[in-house]
Amino acid sequence: MTQTLNLRVRAITWEADGILGFELVPTTPNTLLPAFDAGAHVDLHLGNGLIRSYSLLNAPGERQRWCIAVNRDAASRGGSRFLHESMRPGQIVTVGLPRNNFPLAEDAARSVFIAGGIGITPILGMIRRLTALGRPWSLHYAARTRETAAFVPVLTALAGEAEDAGGALDIRYDREPGARPLDLGAIVAALPGDAHVYCCGPLGMLAAFEAATAALPRERVHVEYFAAKDAPATGGGFEVKLARDGRTVSVAAGQSILDALIAIGVEPPNSCREGVCGTCETRVLRGTPDHRDLVLSEAEKAAGDRMMICCSGAKTPSLELDL
Ligand code: FES
Repeated sequence: MTQTLNLRVRAITWEADGILGFELVPTTPNTLLPAFDAGAHVDLHLGNGLIRSYSLLNAPGERQRWCIAVNRDAASRGGSRFLHESMRPGQIVTVGLPRNNFPLAEDAARSVFIAGGIGITPILGMIRRLTALGRPWSLHYAARTRETAAFVPVLTALAGEAEDAGGALDIRYDREPGARPLDLGAIVAALPGDAHVYCCGPLGMLAAFEAATAALPRERVHVEYFAAKDAPATGGGFEVKLARDGRTVSVAAGQSILDALIAIGVEPPNSCREGVCGTCETRVLRGTPDHRDLVLSEAEKAAGDRMMICCSGAKTPSLELDL
């Protein structure tokens, strides 16, 4: 069972066109929240079975509140629309404990960040952390226009604070007259040999980033996806044995393993349902998964002992899962 907390929405703030900030606090005074590391995210349980993941953007180390920002997505499946239209200050929301698929290498000699749009949220927390540690960083941040660029004043202040340690800020507005879009190839080509580089943003930016960094050592390259890159494995035609439950379920064409489990009344924890949040990670006891997620590393996928059942399938006629 996923552990959750009931938190109060203390404040909702306008951060940019289409982007609202939410400050979540404990419901009882003098209570501290669990600590989190830079790059972590939490799941918000929004009712109707809707669970959505959002990056924590306040300073890691703050225990009295968690802060997130939500972009109103035109193609919203309900999460961002609900938060923008229905959530009010004072309401209680159920929130999962922080998890981190995008950890910060705090001891890197230099850290270079590339953010697009709402992808600034995990990176803001990382920059706060490096600034507090007095470590050098630089940020390349692209937004469509000045109006849609969130957190520019706080980023500018952090860059000022970090100037002596090498903090540097480069903001580009892609849809403004005379725009000079970020050149990811040039940014990566200019990286010092010991720099770690991070990217979070829309799929097009992430694809360009992965291409630009393909030759770099993997341990220096860090990517956070908010949406799926690969198609889910929904070819079906295999069986899943649930080791603890005892039942075996057939996964049909058009279904994910999670769909097939829900159909028989088993619903393991899940959130994004597209392989980006890690909520549905499940131990594999037998068989070979067909991994389609963006959570596990290549080495973890090769080990084959766990999988994301919302999007990954099977390369063998059957799988046995620790469920
Ligand atoms: S539910 Fe998010 S990775 Fe499966």
